Amino acid sequence: MGTNYKLPQGPGPIGIFDSGYGGLTIYQEIQRLMPQYDYLYLGDNARTPYGSRSFDVVYEFTRQSVRYLFQSGCQLVVLACNTASAKALRSIQQIDLPVMDPRRRVLGIIRPTVENIGEITKTNHVGVLATDGTIKSLSYPLEIRKLYPSIHVTGEACPLWVPLVETSEYSSPGADYFIKKHVDNLLNRDPLIDTIILGCTHYPLLLEKIEKYVPSNVKIVTQGAAVAASLKEYLTRHPEIEGLCTRGSNSCFCTTESEDKFRERASVFLHQPVKAQTVII
Ligand code: DGL
Repeated sequence: MGTNYKLPQGPGPIGIFDSGYGGLTIYQEIQRLMPQYDYLYLGDNARTPYGSRSFDVVYEFTRQSVRYLFQSGCQLVVLACNTASAKALRSIQQIDLPVMDPRRRVLGIIRPTVENIGEITKTNHVGVLATDGTIKSLSYPLEIRKLYPSIHVTGEACPLWVPLVETSEYSSPGADYFIKKHVDNLLNRDPLIDTIILGCTHYPLLLEKIEKYVPSNVKIVTQGAAVAASLKEYLTRHPEIEGLCTRGSNSCFCTTESEDKFRERASVFLHQPVKAQTVII
């Protein structure tokens, strides 16, 4: 991100970014809690999945996506993608924002997800299911330890779960094999786990199947509600940012892939018609 282009000033929609459809699970909860704002969702479906890509590539793709959302008028962008939050958030906040426009904000979703985890686990043993990139970044254990030093965190990478969602194969019988495999791996590595965080925004679409293989005494934590509550609180604490979010109750969806495909899948998922547009970022 450099200064070689002009950013529109003034209020705009809240930007929500994911590598694909997964961020819709976050958008849905944010929009439900705060329907008064305008939202602009960007899915980088042409380059999904991000989970197995290197730090530099995820950083560059995320940077381009944030820049697109800024150029489209967003003053505040939520990275509704754990992989991007783990690998790109800090660099964007520390390196890019000061150069581009220090008044704009980019927020991640890992911190809000773990804020209350200490009140949920009784054994102090927490599992995280996420992409390879998120697990290898160690962002979850690091964030949890900052708040709850006595919690023991075990991570399990599930490299095929995002492709199952992106290709709409997640309800097929074949999906069960890969879901059971990673749930079993996690629980075998630490049988004391009583709380599992779904640390990827695509995974709520697999929830029904994940629940089949997780014992009933283990709590499964999804991210949408926690991220939405945290964003609401953030906007209350930062009226200078809140004042830059337009209030027209409109949502627009952009994708780097086919707009027809995105519109069809997103509409089924969100249970309402969506306007989608293909964009080059
Ligand atoms: N929804 C993204 C996440 O939360 C998926 C990453 C990917 O594209 O692999 O990590």
